[in-house]
Amino acid sequence: MPIPGSPRITVFPNDEIAARTLASRIAERVTSKPDLVIGLPTGRTPVRLYAELERLCGQGRIDFSRVTTFNLDEFLGIGSDHPGSFRTFMNEHFFTRVNLQTDRIHFLSGAARDCAAECARYEQEIAAAGGIDLLLLGLGTNGHIGFNEPAATLEGRTHRVTLTPETRRANAALFGGDVEAVPKEALSMGMATILQARAIVLIATGSAKASVVDRLLRGPITPELPASFLQTHADCELVLDQAAAEKVTGRA
Ligand code: GLP
Repeated sequence: MPIPGSPRITVFPNDEIAARTLASRIAERVTSKPDLVIGLPTGRTPVRLYAELERLCGQGRIDFSRVTTFNLDEFLGIGSDHPGSFRTFMNEHFFTRVNLQTDRIHFLSGAARDCAAECARYEQEIAAAGGIDLLLLGLGTNGHIGFNEPAATLEGRTHRVTLTPETRRANAALFGGDVEAVPKEALSMGMATILQARAIVLIATGSAKASVVDRLLRGPITPELPASFLQTHADCELVLDQAAAEKVTGRA
């Protein structure tokens, strides 16, 4: 059931101010709960946020030493040290730039031979960490979150997914622009795993996201638009820049 008023919408003049504001809010959360469990996305959208968090960490305004992280997803069939892997992306943009402890960084392994066991391991580790306090999300132009692609039905828990051609195209930059080099499958947290996070903040910037942002807010709630399930979460916020909010500004 949709929860009235959810998701909340916050519109910033541009993505830089959005990233700066969100980073300082995260710093406040970590200050009040130093062992915060955070879920993390990849993609172009969070890059500015990660840079801001690095800046705050360098200034001693956020301490990641007791923070635990869980990334949302990973390509299947490539190792974590592959240049196109999400793990490589996170190492480059975030993990090596802040004082996170390596053993508190959690990632799905795209090299796993037994995918079901790997997905079960991830669910167990999330549970053992006490669940995710704050889950940051990006948004696919087709409405996917994590790698939960539009489909007739959605898997609840961490699972193996087949990527749509649109998503493979959107991720081609990680593979030298070669769509064919983008793995056809991935592992992803499921929608139930995502919706169990105590708080969710989805970041969407740029005009390419304006239509899908509008659709996710207007409903209906459907597996054909996985992000529409965010309407059912009691503590979900959309952080938008003006370009991504252009179709919903009247509601913000
Ligand atoms: C990938 C990731 C998603 C991310 C999406 C959007 O497909 N699996 O978690 O939200 O890209 O990417 P971008 O921020 O580059 O638009």
